[in-house]
Amino acid sequence: MILAVALGAGGCGKPAQSKKIVIGFSQIGAESAWRTAETNSFLAEAEKRRVTMKFSDAQGKQENQIKAVRSFIAQGVSIIFLAPVVETGWEPVLQEAKQAGIPVILVDRNVKVSDKSLYVTRIAPDCEEEGRIAARWLADKLKGKGNIVELEGTVGSAPAISRKNGFHEVLEKFPDLKVIKMQSGDFLRAKGKEVMEAILKSVDPKTINALYAHNDDMAIGAIQAIEEAGLKPAQDILVVSIDGVKGAFEAMAAGKLNMSVECNPMLAPLAFDAAEKILAGEKDKLPEWTKVPTRFFEQSQAKDALPSRLY
Ligand code: AHR
Repeated sequence: MILAVALGAGGCGKPAQSKKIVIGFSQIGAESAWRTAETNSFLAEAEKRRVTMKFSDAQGKQENQIKAVRSFIAQGVSIIFLAPVVETGWEPVLQEAKQAGIPVILVDRNVKVSDKSLYVTRIAPDCEEEGRIAARWLADKLKGKGNIVELEGTVGSAPAISRKNGFHEVLEKFPDLKVIKMQSGDFLRAKGKEVMEAILKSVDPKTINALYAHNDDMAIGAIQAIEEAGLKPAQDILVVSIDGVKGAFEAMAAGKLNMSVECNPMLAPLAFDAAEKILAGEKDKLPEWTKVPTRFFEQSQAKDALPSRLY
């Protein structure tokens, strides 16, 4: 209700004025099943709360996101949701939003800014922890010894950086567990396949014990490459990834993926709650980061869990 209509400050005896709430959402694109689920979560929540949300798909380009944010500022939206494709390069446009008095809420990915007051709050998973979970699982299954291929997400993006950092932090404790190849697959299924094909040709596939992919889509693409190379994914090469999308559960149920760390994309309810708080004048009550909890799923849980998966 607060979101549908906000009451303007009617101080000094002036009558309160109502202002229609419009939210601008600058989304990265549609690179993965996870991203599509996140977009759907925001569109559905806006409708549920009867809020006008201007949605902009940047098709993976930061320049398009900056243009979208500038256009939201020009239109005088009440709040901006931003899912930033990469970490750096946001200071000028966030400064413009701040000067225009438009609060920015970061969703899912982080930005690197020297002044944290350039955004109000961040609704996001702990991607370092996701990387740690994947590494601990592999270290356990490989008994601390083996060669790993790492398929990284979009270069310069917060989840690619954090999922790598978390993973390698755990690996430091296991000197015989080595990442022998690492390359970006840009969070894309087709690129995951292409990169894995090239890696399987560049080393003796029998020396690869495991694949760690920064998202499920790349893992699913890589699984195809592994099969086409005549190997059994999840057996000859252990496969772990992050997101927990339905495709990953199907791959686990089919015995082709070992484990997926859940990264919940249904962030809209939390983001809209935060927007409501800001509009109610309670922005100081919001934490800098609302951490979305994670957990992981293995093959043995996949079949039972599949029917209740929302994305
Ligand atoms: O920022 C979240 C990541 O972006 C998801 O893990 C990945 O699938 C998406 O593209």
